[in-house]
Amino acid sequence: MKKKKSELAKLWGLKPQGSKLQGSELQGPILILGANGQVGRCLRRALEARGLNKQVWFSSRKQPSSAREIELELANPASIEACIRKFTKEAGQGKGTVILSGAFTHVDACEEDQQKCRQVNFEATKTVTDLCTELGHHFVFYSSEYVYGGAEYEDPSIVGPFKESDPVAPCSAYAQAKVDSESYILENSVLEKTKALSATIIRTTVIFSWDSRDKNFAMQLYRYLANRLSGKNYPGVPDRFRIPTDQVSSPTYAPILAEATLELAARKAPGIYHLTGSDSVARSEFAKQLIRVFGFSQADAEAELEFVATKDLHQTARRPLTAGLNTDKAKAEGVPIWSLEEAYAEWKPPE
Ligand SMILES: NC(=O)c1ccc[n+]([C@@H]2O[C@H](COP(=O)([O-])OP(=O)(O)OC[C@H]3O[C@@H](n4cnc5c(N)ncnc54)[C@H](OP(=O)(O)O)[C@@H]3O)[C@@H](O)[C@H]2O)c1
Repeated sequence: MKKKKSELAKLWGLKPQGSKLQGSELQGPILILGANGQVGRCLRRALEARGLNKQVWFSSRKQPSSAREIELELANPASIEACIRKFTKEAGQGKGTVILSGAFTHVDACEEDQQKCRQVNFEATKTVTDLCTELGHHFVFYSSEYVYGGAEYEDPSIVGPFKESDPVAPCSAYAQAKVDSESYILENSVLEKTKALSATIIRTTVIFSWDSRDKNFAMQLYRYLANRLSGKNYPGVPDRFRIPTDQVSSPTYAPILAEATLELAARKAPGIYHLTGSDSVARSEFAKQLIRVFGFSQADAEAELEFVATKDLHQTARRPLTAGLNTDKAKAEGVPIWSLEEAYAEWKPPE
């Protein structure tokens, strides 16, 4: 079923763009694996806004509190299998869509505990892939800009924004797990009956949203500055905030990433897509823009921050430097891609 372009434009907060908006609607049951993370929560809200609650199941490490929630531990293949089989049985509407938004996302911690990283970020993907292929569900997986993280270290002329077809160059345990997951999915998600690839791989980066409880970069910055400059008392805020000047990326507004994900999932778009915001900016520049959006005094806020080179951060895992992702493929297919200013227009200070 297709949504009207005007309806969809409203949902995406976009002006209708002629024939570019597709507005495909998801058919069949949907399972979100790892539903309590930043992206998982946005997917949940986007599905609710589309009125699809009755066909959605959620899974997370939390104790289930409703009939549509299933407990899940991604480090345990038996738990993944039990979760997907339970969903398949309960949904009972045939083939569906499984979206894996759960992952071990702390890249430095992944470097420190590579075994756990491998288990949660690669072995779990393999288990989900095999079950989706066996049961005929379409699989949607999130990968990362970090798959290109090593490129510039190997050859300084290789910089982003990267296209889907550019060769990967992982340089951390987290990135390697994403690259290996991508390869496994591409090789093993071909349905026996149709011989079609039934998987969508979404590479994204620097995801942010406006939930002040969230741990994304924008909200960490907000909480830090609110404590320093507005006498707020957000807990767990560090005493210094250091921001790299040489990491260029394309920050991605989580609610639009969720909308774009559902659009690709509805079309069962096969293969790899880059879904990020349309602007490539250095992290320091992103921070300066956020200060303006939050309404803090630019000079006072910048004085509270330390702008440094990535090498001076001494992070355990290597970070991509001049990176960012090229989203032309998704844009050409009418999938929503927002600029930072469009995302900033939605900022509302927390009560
Ligand atoms: N955030 C970014 O900037 C970014 C950039 C590129 C790619 N990605 C990818 O995008 C996807 C979504 O990221 P996100 O920002 O939503 O991450 P997030 O906010 O860190 O959420 C990750 C979720 O995974 C769950 N999880 C972690 N380990 C688990 C385990 N062993 N068993 C079950 N659940 C587990 C967490 O559960 P708890 O809530 O119980 O902790 C959390 O809800 C991930 O695949 C990530 O790698 C993210």
